[in-house]
Amino acid sequence: MRKRLGILLSGRGSNFEAIARNVIAGVLDAEIAVVISNRESAQGLATARSLGLKAIALPSKGTEREAFDTQLVELLRRHEVDLVVLAGYMRLLSPIFIRAFPQRILNIHPSLLPAFPGLDAQHQAFEYGVKVSGCTVHFVDEQLDNGPILRQAAVPVLPHDTADSLSARILEQEHRVYSEAIRIVLSGRYRIEGRRVVVEES
Ligand code: GAR
Repeated sequence: MRKRLGILLSGRGSNFEAIARNVIAGVLDAEIAVVISNRESAQGLATARSLGLKAIALPSKGTEREAFDTQLVELLRRHEVDLVVLAGYMRLLSPIFIRAFPQRILNIHPSLLPAFPGLDAQHQAFEYGVKVSGCTVHFVDEQLDNGPILRQAAVPVLPHDTADSLSARILEQEHRVYSEAIRIVLSGRYRIEGRRVVVEES
């Protein structure tokens, strides 16, 4: 049976869309069971609907974190999700959520972790003056932007760059590596040794 993805997003949803296009093209053998946003106005929800996918707004504003995450867990369980994919989900997850899906939550972050965790990573990297940046797909644990790393891609910072042009170059790589990382996890051909994810060659 095809593994079921639950996508969480808060905004534009371009990473989600790249994954969805790979699923539709048959490049990624999975099913998108549900797309959930904590923001009703998220562009990603509209994209999901236009692709004929189940898209649910679960507004987080005004709800206490644990209570919200409990609802989110229930929703994902109801949709029998095997893997939770954070795609620009801009809300901290509580231990309640993380413990409900042990080593079953992935995140993409727009920097080469452990450099520049947190918000606006591309701007942080640009302002710091790094000459190379990139993106990271990692398992989610109870610390922010911290879990074992599945995939990274590096991009150069060019002399004429702005934070925006750098973000665009990183995003292109995000769209490529997220599906690769999902494919590894769904294949089951990896093991986690401490912080290291060792991918077994097929
Ligand atoms: C992406 O650049 C993603 O890496 C970042 O938000 C953007 C979402 O874009 N995520 C984080 O910063 C998480 N800490 P998208 O909605 O177009 O996929």
